[in-house]
Amino acid sequence: KGTKNQFVIDAGQKNFGATMCKSCGMIYTASNPEDELQHAQHHHRFLEGIKYTGWKRERVVAEFWDGKIVLVLPHDPSYAIRKVEEVQELVDNELGFQQVVPRCPNKTKTFLFVSDEKKVVGCLIAEPIQQAFRVLSEPTSPESPGSRECHRAWRCSNEPVPAVCGISRIWVFRFKRRKRIARRLVDTLRNRFMFGCFLSTNEIAFSDPTPDGKLFAAKYCNT
Ligand code: ACO
Ligand code: ZN
Repeated sequence: KGTKNQFVIDAGQKNFGATMCKSCGMIYTASNPEDELQHAQHHHRFLEGIKYTGWKRERVVAEFWDGKIVLVLPHDPSYAIRKVEEVQELVDNELGFQQVVPRCPNKTKTFLFVSDEKKVVGCLIAEPIQQAFRVLSEPTSPESPGSRECHRAWRCSNEPVPAVCGISRIWVFRFKRRKRIARRLVDTLRNRFMFGCFLSTNEIAFSDPTPDGKLFAAKYCNT
């Protein structure tokens, strides 16, 4: 049944070629058990979301009619850290990021948006930074608009500007987008990143934004 949803990209090497799942978009090697297991896990998370049953000591930093935002810090209990790793794995697979090691892992702040259905439907990972480069408005290859290959090739200015907080990941569960979840995550981050102050939009920077991320950031920073 599984093979119905798959197609082989590199038909030259039937058994070794990479396969892309049409439902979850993951590219993996179907003949490799480890890869297949990873795919099965990602596939399930991608479609069903990640459960959040609640913790005895959770840091709720915002509450809404449709959910709440929980903050996880680097020295939190291992069940909290494991949950964050699980979410980050889903996000990185979806964005096609390779495992990225944070610059200062002990200063990372992770905000999880938990829905009323007890699922993690949003995630924002932030870290302190000193400077950022502004994204200039147009992508580098105007001859191929919408091309997937150049989807992160935004031009950046060479002049660094001071910044305080870098958003290394922002993500909202596919079926919960355009409900202001990302906006509420960034609002909460600005309020909570540094004790006693509300960061201005000039002090936050989005690292390596995707097209979705760029559209969101442009809208967010102008309103
Ligand atoms: N296209 C156009 N405008 C958008 C989009 C979009 N895809 N997403 C958000 N906006 C704008 C809209 O103006 C929106 O307001 P509106 O719905 O009233 O018109 C406003 O931003 C606020 O949007 P939210 O509802 O708060 O955004 P959402 O919760 O849908 O999350 C996000 C946006 C995180 C970019 C989501 O689309 C996502 O997870 N995408 C896939 C992962 C991704 O690409 N993340 C960014 C990676 S870059 C990085 O991590 C630094
Ligand atoms: Zn899949």
